[in-house]
Amino acid sequence: MRALLLLLLPLVLAAGSIPLPPPSGPVHCSAGWSNCTVTNAYGSFNDRKTCHAAKAVYPRTEAELVAAVALAVKEKRKVKVATKNSHSFPKLACPGGSNGMIISTALLNRVVSIDVGRRQMTVESGMLLRDLINKAGAAGLSLPNSPYFYGLTIGGLLATGAHGSSLMGKGGAVHESVVGVRIVTPAPPKSKRFAIVRKLRAHDPDLNAAMVSLGVLGVISQVTLQLEPLFKRKVTFLTNDSDADLAEMVATWGQQHEFGDIMWLPGQGKVVLRKDDRVDVSTPGDGLNNYLGFRSIPTRDIIRQRDQEEQLQKAGSDEALCQASRVLPTVFEQQGFGFSNDGKSFTGYPVVGYQHRIQAAGTCLDGPEDGLVQSCPWNPRINGTFFYNSGLSVALSNATAFIRDVLSLRDRNPNAFCDLDMHVGILFRYIKSSTAYLGKTEDSVDLDITYYRSRVKGTPGLHVDVIDELEQMALYKYGALPHWGKNRNYAFNETKERYPKLCKFLDVKSRFDSDGVFSSEWSDQVLGINGSPIIPGPGCAVEGLCTCTKDSDCAPGYACSSGKVYQDARVCSIPLL
Ligand SMILES: Cc1cc2nc3c(=O)[nH]c(=O)nc-3n(C[C@H](O)[C@H](O)[C@H](O)COP(=O)(O)OP(=O)(O)OC[C@H]3O[C@@H](n4cnc5c(N)ncnc54)[C@H](O)[C@@H]3O)c2cc1C
Ligand SMILES: *[C@@H]1O[C@H](CO)[C@@H](O)[C@H](O)[C@H]1NC(C)=O
Ligand SMILES: *[C@@H]1O[C@H](CO)[C@@H](O)[C@H](O)[C@H]1NC(C)=O
Ligand SMILES: *[C@@H]1O[C@H](CO)[C@@H](O)[C@H](O)[C@H]1NC(C)=O
Ligand SMILES: *[C@@H]1O[C@H](CO)[C@@H](O)[C@H](O)[C@H]1NC(C)=O
Repeated sequence: MRALLLLLLPLVLAAGSIPLPPPSGPVHCSAGWSNCTVTNAYGSFNDRKTCHAAKAVYPRTEAELVAAVALAVKEKRKVKVATKNSHSFPKLACPGGSNGMIISTALLNRVVSIDVGRRQMTVESGMLLRDLINKAGAAGLSLPNSPYFYGLTIGGLLATGAHGSSLMGKGGAVHESVVGVRIVTPAPPKSKRFAIVRKLRAHDPDLNAAMVSLGVLGVISQVTLQLEPLFKRKVTFLTNDSDADLAEMVATWGQQHEFGDIMWLPGQGKVVLRKDDRVDVSTPGDGLNNYLGFRSIPTRDIIRQRDQEEQLQKAGSDEALCQASRVLPTVFEQQGFGFSNDGKSFTGYPVVGYQHRIQAAGTCLDGPEDGLVQSCPWNPRINGTFFYNSGLSVALSNATAFIRDVLSLRDRNPNAFCDLDMHVGILFRYIKSSTAYLGKTEDSVDLDITYYRSRVKGTPGLHVDVIDELEQMALYKYGALPHWGKNRNYAFNETKERYPKLCKFLDVKSRFDSDGVFSSEWSDQVLGINGSPIIPGPGCAVEGLCTCTKDSDCAPGYACSSGKVYQDARVCSIPLL
């Protein structure tokens, strides 16, 4: 009852003149719109620390957005944009210092215009991918590629370079479809105003900075996307009980299928190939992607599943963990991963459907805001699933050698990979090289993994050494680029050397925001401006805040040792007696 009353309160207040945030957003203020904290959709940044800000604003129009930035500049506050849910893992949404201002784009979620003839659509930056692709679809247009989860906002997903999977056309990243942005920045020093709107159009070189900006250039107000005529896709998932030719397959699959990806269950040695191609709109079929992993689950089941995971981790039996890890992938496979042929039932492959019904999913967001009865599995208001998510892009030219190394690591002890299987394995997706200054420098294959994270600081999961070795192999042996919106801190160490066009990006940053209003400790660390994302201290390697250099960086009982296949890796492992 108390919970119910608390939920009703914001609705009553919303009748007033001040726009209100959704009750479960990432921003919480204790005194009206001041004394705030900001977190992400999981309720925890990598450092497990609370981020404080002095105030939060919820502009509804570009004019209100300009006023908000002007006020912050006038009051000499640092600023960060928070989105409706803030799904990034690193501390991107936290303003610098503790006296900053949060500008939420939760209420900037409308279509500004659709030009059907030129196939362009302009939307406000807080619009969810879900609404964007549906509005485009209704106008007979398709966004050619996108992340697989539609709960992200266009402003947020662009800021981190988010992507789906493709090597054809413009490739897998959404920012390749951007042909214009309106961005609100502090005014140049000699101006009489405090904030201005900059309009960047196609072929403006500064667009290469604004496409993937980490949010440090200003607040993107509107985005114009180049769309394509509505098309359909034909999807089949092919399971192979052998991963013997995975290394060659990863290098070539993306060239054979426009939206192909590969799911690998290394513990079981199984591969699921997603054969996914564009077909003409006249092809019969009204399939729907309602991916199982992004559906609402009753809260009690989420909590029970987490309890089970905790038990398995605590018991430490490979056999039990590996057995349990087979359940989820089997259910996913049997139920066609949540795809249906007609929006209701799955009767077999191929599934044919419109691009906007196939490209992304996330029905756990669509339910009533009753997050206490059922919700997305990662709802921070309950003690549900809690995990790390890493995204690392290896140049396609290095993919085969990289996978061969991972296969030899796996072959030494397949059981060590069961935790990855439990989180539906390793997902390989394709991204093309980009003109974006902070985009991919090469055509790449992105490896995406999700794995156990303890709620207790400093507590390692089982066999973390293989995950550390796998990640470090990608990063340091094969020169992988980390996804800006995923990964643990250490993965961003020395990102500076990995982006040859970083200086061009910083040049735009200094023109748009010379005082670093939109910069934070985190953005300065990852852009190599000031400090390092490494946070040394006892147990730092367990939390991914460092790579270990000594035993005390690991959990008690663990030793900092070299990798088994990639000797230069520094991983925390239990010493053999
Ligand atoms: C379930 C799930 C599935 C995912 N699937 C994929 C996937 O398939 N592919 C993929 O690439 N990624 C995926 N991600 C990661 C995701 O793409 C990124 O974390 C993304 O940045 C989150 O978008 P957001 O709208 O929540 O932005 P936030 O995390 O809130 O913001 C990211 C950054 O952008 C800044 N920002 C946001 N809006 C603006 C604006 N208007 N102007 C200026 N700066 C702004 C913020 O300040 C912050 O610095 C997934 C995440 C989850 C939780
Ligand atoms: C700010 O909020 C915290 C709780 O988040 C509270 O303890 C503190 O008293 C508040 N400070 C002010 C000045 O309101
Ligand atoms: C399954 O994998 C094996 C070995 O990796 C390969 O020879 C075979 O062609 C694959 N089958 C399919 C249907 O992909
Ligand atoms: C989550 O678990 C912790 C520790 O077990 C407990 O203190 C906290 O109250 C729980 N939170 C919720 C929302 O159940
Ligand atoms: C490919 O890997 C080699 C080392 O094996 C590395 O030196 C090189 O930078 C990588 N190539 C790219 C394009 O990242």
